[in-house]
Amino acid sequence: MGAPLPLLRLSSAAAAAAAAALLLLLLLHLPPTAAAAAALNFSFPSFDISEAHTNLTMVDDANINQGALQLTPDTLNSVEYLVNKSGRVLLSHSFTLWRDLPAPSTNSTTIADADAAGSGGKHVASFNTTFSINVYRVDNATPGEGLAFIIAPELDMPARSDAGFLGLTNATLNGDPNNHLVAVEFDTFKQPYDPDNNHVGLDINNVSSIAYASLTPFGIQIAPSVATNYTIWIDYDGGDRHIWVYMAVQGKPKPSFSVLNSSLDLGAHLLRESYFGFSASTGSEYQLNCILSWSLTVEDLSEGNDGSSGWPAWKFAVAIGVPAAAALVLGLLVFFYMRRRPVGDDPSLLIDKLKSLPGQPKEFMFDELKKATNNFDEKLKLGQGGFGMVYKGVLPGDNPGEKIEVAVKKFSRENSKGGQDDFIHELSIINRLRHKHLVRLVGWCHKIGVLLLVYDYMPNGSLDQHLFGGDDRPLLSWERRYNIIAGVASALHYLHNEYDQKVVHRDLKASNVMLDAAFHARLGDFGLARAIDIDKTSYTERELGGVPGTMGYIAPECFHTGRATRESDVFAFGAVVLETVCGRRPRCDVAGFQFLADWVWKLYRERRLLDAVDPRLAYADDYVAADVERLLLLGLACSLPTPADRPKTATIVQIISRSVDPPAVPPFKPPFVWPAAGPIDDEGAEDGESSRLTSTVVTSSYCPSSSGWTPRYISTEGHVEASDALV
Ligand SMILES: *[C@@H]1O[C@H](CO)[C@@H](O)[C@H](O)[C@H]1NC(C)=O
Ligand SMILES: *[C@@H]1O[C@H](CO)[C@@H](O)[C@H](O)[C@H]1NC(C)=O
Ligand SMILES: *[C@@H]1O[C@H](CO)[C@@H](O)[C@H](O)[C@H]1NC(C)=O
Ligand SMILES: *[C@@H]1O[C@H](CO)[C@@H](O)[C@H](O)[C@H]1NC(C)=O
Ligand SMILES: *[C@@H]1O[C@H](CO)[C@@H](O)[C@H](O)[C@H]1NC(C)=O
Ligand SMILES: *[C@@H]1O[C@H](CO)[C@@H](O)[C@H](O)[C@H]1NC(C)=O
Ligand SMILES: *[C@@H]1O[C@H](CO)[C@@H](O)[C@H](O)[C@H]1NC(C)=O
Ligand SMILES: *[C@@H]1O[C@H](CO)[C@@H](O)[C@H](O)[C@H]1NC(C)=O
Ligand SMILES: *[C@@H]1O[C@H](CO)[C@@H](O)[C@H](O)[C@H]1NC(C)=O
Repeated sequence: MGAPLPLLRLSSAAAAAAAAALLLLLLLHLPPTAAAAAALNFSFPSFDISEAHTNLTMVDDANINQGALQLTPDTLNSVEYLVNKSGRVLLSHSFTLWRDLPAPSTNSTTIADADAAGSGGKHVASFNTTFSINVYRVDNATPGEGLAFIIAPELDMPARSDAGFLGLTNATLNGDPNNHLVAVEFDTFKQPYDPDNNHVGLDINNVSSIAYASLTPFGIQIAPSVATNYTIWIDYDGGDRHIWVYMAVQGKPKPSFSVLNSSLDLGAHLLRESYFGFSASTGSEYQLNCILSWSLTVEDLSEGNDGSSGWPAWKFAVAIGVPAAAALVLGLLVFFYMRRRPVGDDPSLLIDKLKSLPGQPKEFMFDELKKATNNFDEKLKLGQGGFGMVYKGVLPGDNPGEKIEVAVKKFSRENSKGGQDDFIHELSIINRLRHKHLVRLVGWCHKIGVLLLVYDYMPNGSLDQHLFGGDDRPLLSWERRYNIIAGVASALHYLHNEYDQKVVHRDLKASNVMLDAAFHARLGDFGLARAIDIDKTSYTERELGGVPGTMGYIAPECFHTGRATRESDVFAFGAVVLETVCGRRPRCDVAGFQFLADWVWKLYRERRLLDAVDPRLAYADDYVAADVERLLLLGLACSLPTPADRPKTATIVQIISRSVDPPAVPPFKPPFVWPAAGPIDDEGAEDGESSRLTSTVVTSSYCPSSSGWTPRYISTEGHVEASDALV
C-alpha cells in the first residue's frame, strides 16, 4: 500500500479544532464544482460526417448519413445490406459514472485505508438525455428488430448481436454480469421473451427486460406506417437510483407521465468508466434505425472534479457540522499553502487509485506471471520489442478450469524511482484508453527493478510477421491489408484526439500492429514510450544500438528535436501504409533507393504507381487499383518532410473510408528544411483540407423523412466496406 498521506497522518488525539480545520481543508480542496454537481454536456442538433471522426465512434454496421446516425444501414443497394445487421454509435470518450464513498471512520489514517474500506456505498452520477428517433418501416413491411439507448463498457460490440439481440448482447453473452451493460430498448419485434412488438424496456446485461411497458396504450407506434419522428427523454437520478423514460411525437413538450420508470442502481452493474450511445439491429425483418438529434448532460464525477480520491463533499460536511469561523480562516490559509502541490500527483495515491479501478488493468503478483509464462520460458517467447521481451502466458480465468491466454511484456530497462512514478502516471492514462483497434491492457506488475505489462494475446501476431514472415505464411490478402490500415488509422486518430489527454504513440511500426483472430488491426505499445523514459535515449542511439528496422519510421525532424509529436506519428503511419501495400520494409534497397518512400515517389512521378504494389498481390491479381493508388498517395503525403504538410488523422480516416480524395502530392519530394516553417504538434483545429465528395454516385434511397424517399449519396464501394473502414 502507498505511503500515508502527510495530510492525514494526524492521529485522533489531535485537538478537535485542528481536526475540523483539517476536514474543512479537504473540503475546500475539492473544486467548488464538485459540491455544485458540475455537469458535462453534449449536444448534437444533427449529425455531421466529421463528427464520426471526432466525438463519435461508429461500430460495425452503423454510419452517419443524411444528417442522422444510421445505427443499421440505410441503402437501396439490396436487401442483403439491410437484414441481420447490428451497429452501435458511442460518444468516443468515457464518463465516470460512480465513485466509492469511504465508510465513515474516525480512525482511518490513510486514504488507502479508506479506499480499501470502500463499502460505504457509492456516489452514482445523475444524467439526463434527450434524443429524437425515426424508425422507418421500409415498404410498410413488418419492422424489426429495434434500437436502444445504451451505457456500455467499451467502444465495441459483441459479434453476432443482430436480430433479437438489438446490438446489446449475443447468444453466448446474454445475461452475463460481465457485460456491464444497461440499455433502454425500443423494440418493434416480438421475440419469445418480449411482451409485444411495440414496447419500451429496461435491460441489464440481458435483452430480456427487467421492466417493460407496451407503448400502444400511449398511442405511440415506434415504427408507424406513416413515418413519424419521436422525441425521447431519459432522466436518471443517481441519488434516488431511479430512471424515467418519456416519449412524445417530435415537437410536443415533454409529457408529465413517463412511459416507463424503474429503480435502477447503475453503480451495481456498470464499469466506473462507461460509454453512452445507441445500438440497433435488424433480423430477417428490417427497419431503418435513425437517431436525428441527441443531447446529454452527465453529472461530472471525473478525475479532477472529485477531489483527489472520491471523498464526497457531503460526508465532510456532515462530519464537521457547522465549522467554526476560526477553523475556516486556518483552513483557508493552509489550503492556499498546500494548493501548490495537488494531492492527486502523489504516485502512491495513483497506485491506490489504479488498484481501486474496476475491471482493468489489475495488478498481478510477480509470481503469478512467472508461473503463467513458465518462468519466462524461451520457448514461449513471442518476440522482442524495443524495450524488452514478450512472452506468451496462460492465466487461470474466473471460472474453474478456464484459461486465459495473454502476452506478458517484460521490460529490460531497470527503472529508477523517477521512472516508476512516470510509469504509474502513464498507466493511469493507458487505462482510460479503450478502442477496438488498441490492444487491451489486462494488467501490470511492478517489482523493484522489474516491470511487466500483461496484454490480450493476439493469435495472429504482428503485421510485419505476415508481410515478411516467409513463404510458409499465407499471403495477406488485399482486403485484409486495407482493413488493417483502416484500423490503425482509426486507433491513431483516437489516440491523437482522445477527450482530454492527447496521446502520441511514438513508436508506430509494423511490428507494433497486432492482428486479432479476425485479422483486425490492434495497435500495441501505445502511450508507453514516456512511461519508460525513452526521451533519454535518442532515436539515433537506438538505431545504432541495434534495433533493426526502426529507421524509415522516424520523421526527419525527430533527429533534430528528439521529440515525438502527432506529426511524427503520422510520418510513421505513412511508412506502415507504404510497407503494407508494397510488401517491402520502409528502409530497403530497391532500385537504388534506400527508402521505400523515395522509390514510390519516383514511380508516382513516372505515373507507374501500380508497379509499387506487393508483387505477390500482383501475381495473385488480388488488389483494387484505385485503392492501391489511394493508399500510396496517402502514404506519400504522410511522408512529406515538413511536419505541417502531413495530413491530420481526421483527414486520413476520411481518405481511407473513401469519403474524400487522396491528397495532392508534389511530383518530387520537397527538401527537408530545418527549422521547419510550419507549427509542429499544433493543438489547434484540424486544418481545412478539401473534403470533396468523390467516388460517390447519386442514387435514391430510403431516408428518415416523412416521405421516406430522398436522393442521397452512397458510396459505390458498397456499405459493408465503407462502414468497416470508418470504425
Ligand atoms: C450544460 O447546458 C446547460 C443548459 O443547456 C447550461 O446551463 C450549462 O452551463 C451547460 N454546462 C456545461 C458544462 O456546458
Ligand atoms: C466535438 O469535439 C470537438 C473537439 O473536441 C469539440 O470542439 C466539439 O464541441 C464537440 N462537439 C460536440 C457536439 O460536443
Ligand atoms: C439472417 O439470419 C437468419 C437467422 O440466422 C438466417 O436464416 C438468414 O438466412 C439470414 N439472412 C441473410 C441474408 O443473411
Ligand atoms: C480502527 O479501525 C480498525 C479497522 O478499520 C478497527 O479494527 C478498530 O477497532 C478501529 N479502532 C477504533 C478506536 O475505532
Ligand atoms: C436532470 O433534469 C432534472 C429536471 O428535469 C434536474 O433536476 C436535474 O438536475 C438534471 N440532472 C442533470 C444531471 O442535469
Ligand atoms: C458473442 O460475442 C463475443 C465477443 O465478441 C464473441 O467472442 C462470441 O463468439 C459471440 N458469440 C456468438 C454466438 O457469436
Ligand atoms: C436473461 O433473462 C431471461 C428472462 O428473464 C432469463 O430467463 C435468463 O436466464 C437470463 N439470462 C441469464 C444468463 O441470466
Ligand atoms: C412510474 O410508474 C408507475 C407505474 O409503474 C406510475 O404509476 C407512475 O405514475 C410513474 N411515475 C411517473 C413520474 O411517471
Ligand atoms: C423528421 O426529421 C427529419 C430530420 O430532422 C426531418 O427532415 C423530417 O421532416 C421530420 N419528419 C417529420 C414528420 O417531422
